[in-house]
Amino acid sequence: MDRKETDIYLRLDPARLPQHIAIIMDGNGRWARRRHMPRVAGHRAGVAAVRSTVETAARIGIPALTLYAFSEENWKKRPKSEVDFLMRLLCRYLKAEIKTLNENNIRLKYIGRQHELPESVQREMAEASGATSKNTGMLLTLALNYSARSEIVDAFRSLAEAASRNGGLDHMQVDEQLISDHLYTRGLPDPDLVIRTSGEMRLSNFLLWQLAYAEIYVTQTLWPDFRGAQLLEGIEEYQKRDRRYGGLAPDGQPQRTTRAHAEAKRR
Ligand code: IPE
Ligand code: IPE
Ligand code: MG
Repeated sequence: MDRKETDIYLRLDPARLPQHIAIIMDGNGRWARRRHMPRVAGHRAGVAAVRSTVETAARIGIPALTLYAFSEENWKKRPKSEVDFLMRLLCRYLKAEIKTLNENNIRLKYIGRQHELPESVQREMAEASGATSKNTGMLLTLALNYSARSEIVDAFRSLAEAASRNGGLDHMQVDEQLISDHLYTRGLPDPDLVIRTSGEMRLSNFLLWQLAYAEIYVTQTLWPDFRGAQLLEGIEEYQKRDRRYGGLAPDGQPQRTTRAHAEAKRR
């Protein structure tokens, strides 16, 4: 950890770390444009941000980290040359990272419609997740060719199949748990914190069901400039929030508690 990270880390309450952080890694194209470089140079530079973020999250004991690497829409709507570049970058990242993931006891998984990706990429993905499957530390989930609405469509399909095997939907208890169990993220707790870089104020079809009560943190930092220190800043901001889930604050007031208030509570 560098000095800046250590300073922020010491201000955090280790008992109230988010159990699952989800990140929308955005702004690679703008980062490159500002430097008069091609968009793909931004994607390449984004790998260092991924490395630093993953390592810091694992080191401070975050149980689950989910990174939105590319959406189904990115895959369908961006020029083939950019998509091909992203695929090659992903394969290179997976190959290069297995060793560090193992050293940090990180398990790797994916969400998204994997079967629509090129077979060579699927093989690389299976190789990396297989090589880390015995690790017991942080679960790193990469969202690749991911769309939250497609995830919900796929959940409906898998529910319908389960229903036909079990004598119809009437014989099943349809509740939130059942739906969660049919999402790609089954078994994972919902994210407590969602971070979006580059200042955009939208979810862009990311984890629509799972983010129902997540705290949202938007930073102007462009993804290639994001590092562990920025992750810790996001967590620090998260710890100042007052999560109410539709109820009242502990003092009975529905108003947002002030920063001073939150600090006082922490002491
Ligand atoms: C995020 O950066 C990476 C992906 C979506 C693959 P962008 O490529 O969306 O960068 P901007 O938003 O154009 O700056
Ligand atoms: C969201 O970024 C998807 C990822 C970061 C992978 P986009 O750049 O695709 O989102 P929009 O198009 O600005 O909503
Ligand atoms: Mg973008």
